[in-house]
Amino acid sequence: MTSNSLKCCINPSILSADFVNLQAELARISNADAVHVDVMDNHFVPNLTLGLPVVERIQQVSPIPLDAHLMIADVDRWAPQYADAGLASVTFHVEASNAPIKLARELRARGAKAGMALRPATAVEPYLDMLPELDMLLIMTVEPGFGGQSFLDVTLPKIRRARAAIEGSGVNVAIQVDGGITEETITRAAEAGANIFVAGSAVYGMPSPEEAIESLRAKGQLAFG
Ligand code: DX5
Ligand code: ZN
Repeated sequence: MTSNSLKCCINPSILSADFVNLQAELARISNADAVHVDVMDNHFVPNLTLGLPVVERIQQVSPIPLDAHLMIADVDRWAPQYADAGLASVTFHVEASNAPIKLARELRARGAKAGMALRPATAVEPYLDMLPELDMLLIMTVEPGFGGQSFLDVTLPKIRRARAAIEGSGVNVAIQVDGGITEETITRAAEAGANIFVAGSAVYGMPSPEEAIESLRAKGQLAFG
């Protein structure tokens, strides 16, 4: 797959939404490709959001697919249950998994796309051989835990190397970036090789989330050339 055949996907993060009105907040992003659901347990990251019972309800009412980002410890135990809930895509952090290949296979066997996330300082090279086991690689562009942080440009070479490895091996793996994605940074991330963009504050912080999604998507797509 060459970069100009990539489709630019925008997955807004409901971390920046109003947690007491989640169903209404989903309706405000109906033109998004998926909704990014940040699950945090106050162990893997120093913040606590929501867990399986709430995600199951979101799955039942959401008009668009769910893309779960599990920032939790003991993820080998919990992630398969998110796949069982019918989510389109489940992403675990490799730093939290004892058996990432086994886990990716379990997620796929349960009908979800398998995503694997790397913190900003986690190298991608040790994991290149397992790309065929994955549908998506999530390269964090901020330290996970909070919305509204600044994009870390230091992650751009890793995105480039991951894209080169994916194109070189001919596997069909998406590269998602998450953290600090704005109308300005999306161009750099897209040029480096990302094709799925998570945006929290740059979508929900705008007067019209739907217009923000269209504008981000156009900018990302333009950068693919
Ligand atoms: C951070 C979360 C992100 C966060 C992004 O740990 O994984 O999904 O919501 O928020 P922004 O786009 O505001 O950086
Ligand atoms: Zn996230």
